[in-house]
Amino acid sequence: MVEKKVIVVAVAALIVGLLLGYALAVPHINALKHELETLKVSVKEVEALKKELDFLKSENEKLKAELAKYKASYVDKIKKRGKIILGTSADWPPFEYVDAQGNIVGIDIEIAKRIAEKLGVELEIKDMKFAALIEALKGGLVDIVIADMTPTAKRELQVDFSIPYYFSKGHAVVTLKGKVITCVEDLYGKKVGVQLGTTQEEWAKANLKDKAEILSYDKVYPDMVMVLKRGDVDAIIVGDIIASVLTTKDPELVIAFYIGAPTPGAAVAVPEGAEDLKFVVNQVIEELVESGEMQKIFENEIAKWLGMGG
Ligand code: ARG
Repeated sequence: MVEKKVIVVAVAALIVGLLLGYALAVPHINALKHELETLKVSVKEVEALKKELDFLKSENEKLKAELAKYKASYVDKIKKRGKIILGTSADWPPFEYVDAQGNIVGIDIEIAKRIAEKLGVELEIKDMKFAALIEALKGGLVDIVIADMTPTAKRELQVDFSIPYYFSKGHAVVTLKGKVITCVEDLYGKKVGVQLGTTQEEWAKANLKDKAEILSYDKVYPDMVMVLKRGDVDAIIVGDIIASVLTTKDPELVIAFYIGAPTPGAAVAVPEGAEDLKFVVNQVIEELVESGEMQKIFENEIAKWLGMGG
């Protein structure tokens, strides 16, 4: 009997002990649980931070690549190659045209020669249609473009321009002697030729759309001039200087009137970010203008074109 009591008491004591132990352990267990929860949150936070870090790393790489592009020395590349490649559209006398011997010559070629000289390299000329020049420069096919190219805001988005080397009084409408075309309205209902991708084409599209038939050509001289003389178009729109030399040389052609506003007529285009190359080009232009040499180049080249047979 006594034994039984002892066992009951012992068991009871054991149960009480266990309960007590458990009760005492509860706060500890809760603390551990809490700790586990905070650890879980921390892990998530670390993962998020890691992701952010990876993103920043890749952004950094991108910026580095971009920076390298801008720091890349175009001048070094040209010097190492030993030649500078000029892109032009040789259909625009006296800026660039093909002479009787089949050579590409003109004002812009003279400027390119001075740039090549300054860099101490040879000059290679790539002749293409005007509308292809910007892409050729962007694609690295040519190092510079000199083609009486007007530095427009739209082109500035794709390439960089030097300081201008010539100012234009506007576009010129050229027609055949005897045609009664003296103002923009006289072009309504007529056929008007412009060069593809030029500021003249842009003007025509903005001012003659639905009013005249605008025909775009790849090459101005001789193609577009021939089309005018044949009577396929009633007028062509070109730059002021080319209009003046064309009409001086050919008595059949006349300048009907000028349109558009005076602008920085032409600048040398270089790839976007080609700061070192642009610096050299600007230097050459500045020197040519300040010494009066630029003026001479214009006079000589105009005289050369006018004196050329054909
Ligand atoms: N100045 C005009 C322009 O920038 C026409 C230039 C045409 N040049 C040429 N080589 N065909 O659009």
